[in-house]
Amino acid sequence: MVTPPEKNYINGFATIQRKTTEVRESLMEPVIDQVTKFLHSNRTNAEQTLAEFLAIPSVSADPKHRADVRRAAEWVAEFLSQMGLRAEIVPSDTGHPVVYAETPYREGFPTVLIYGHYDVQPAEDPTLWESPPFQPTVRGDAIYARGASDDKGQVLTHLLSVRAWYEVTKSWPVNFKFIIEGEEEVGSSALETFVDKYRDRLTCDCVVVSDGNQFGPGQPAITYGLRGIAYFELRLTGPNRDLHSGSFGGTVTNPATALTMILGRIMGQDGRITIPGFYDDVLPLSDEERRRLRELPFDERAFWATLGVESALGEPGYTVLERRWARPTFEVCGLWGGYQGEGAKTVIPAEAGAKISFRLVPHQAPERVRQQLLAYLAQICPPGVRIELVDLHASPAVVTPLDSPYIKAAEMAVKAAFSAPPVFTREGGSIPIVGLFQERLGADILLLGWGQDDDNTHAPNEKFSLTDFHRGTLASAYLWEFIRKVAKSHET
Ligand code: BES
Ligand code: ZN
Repeated sequence: MVTPPEKNYINGFATIQRKTTEVRESLMEPVIDQVTKFLHSNRTNAEQTLAEFLAIPSVSADPKHRADVRRAAEWVAEFLSQMGLRAEIVPSDTGHPVVYAETPYREGFPTVLIYGHYDVQPAEDPTLWESPPFQPTVRGDAIYARGASDDKGQVLTHLLSVRAWYEVTKSWPVNFKFIIEGEEEVGSSALETFVDKYRDRLTCDCVVVSDGNQFGPGQPAITYGLRGIAYFELRLTGPNRDLHSGSFGGTVTNPATALTMILGRIMGQDGRITIPGFYDDVLPLSDEERRRLRELPFDERAFWATLGVESALGEPGYTVLERRWARPTFEVCGLWGGYQGEGAKTVIPAEAGAKISFRLVPHQAPERVRQQLLAYLAQICPPGVRIELVDLHASPAVVTPLDSPYIKAAEMAVKAAFSAPPVFTREGGSIPIVGLFQERLGADILLLGWGQDDDNTHAPNEKFSLTDFHRGTLASAYLWEFIRKVAKSHET
């Protein structure tokens, strides 16, 4: 790809007389080509760097890994400092630190905030992993490790591309601000405080986030929507101790049985959520968007086949993609109560519980959903058990406008790197801070996921394709070039 050279790529160039500059530039290889060559010849090094990052077990949910999470923050800060930036590790009162850095501000250049997370989900049962979760292992085209796709591998694509620009030009193509946080997988609560506190300092033209997926192998995507979430733990307590289910069965309410009754009433047999008022605020899909989603090459049966099922219960009247990206859902994420061991034990447990989540869509406020759930629980809870609802996560859904010049830049960058134009998709997952960036910073959001649906994020054997890792890095390098261009043409 040939891109005409621009002024001011290299420090000091602007001071050279214009005529001379033009002559020199015409003889010089365009900077973007130098950057992409640099990236190409440093691929092995990039993979080693990724493996080093992945070897740190930065599990934010587990207090045992507190020091490891800190080590991952230091690793990111060190990486940034290698390109002459002073990265700050900003502690939080409640959780894990935020790594923040910015390039020296240059007037007339757009400002891009790069966001990502260095924390990872718990690896859980090590016997389910083919290679240990924190010993990154390459098999075929992919690197296997917890956090490979979500999100260390994706974050690193941007760090590497910025570093490549810096190595080639000893400067930065745009103004950068970096927020790489350590609490995304546990809800980003500390980051909210951080954004509020440093709001003025975080001013930017656009926010770039790579923490999601492409539409399919070889089919890159620009994501313009994320679902929100309202996540709770539901605790039920009954008798003051476990009881013999023969001696006491029929005399008290069994909390485990009550739990199944309650859960069974949150969603109907038809897949619709039955909490009164739950759908009131849901922003309906427009006919135009439904048409666009239907045009995406997606085969529901083939999709189910990849997941080992033949069909599914879901909200009637909507396609699988609509249900997945743009309709709210209810999921039981965990469930306990009573005897779980070998064989049978006749017991009425004193308590039972569940982790339940609602994925939310635009205009649904997590707090309103909480209130509606509380009112409904009060109504359907059988006598003889007490209910406690513990808040775990709350974040609203996000939809970003597609007419932004930065989306245009991203489209060109992705196309250049992946040799295929991106399709426009939404995502079912949540990135809690993105809505806040949009609201408080008023910046355009670019969600550019380099992962794949079968990356096993949050599951055993998480992986990230090395081809996608390198293509993502390349797309990131192009992105800065194109952002500069669109920002300029936008001004004039
Ligand atoms: N990377 C995911 C979000 C995501 C998932 C984007 C799938 C696109 C497709 C992110 O790290 C994540 O897992 N977020 C959590 C947020 C929760 C802990 C509040 C999620 O969606 O469950
Ligand atoms: Zn995640």
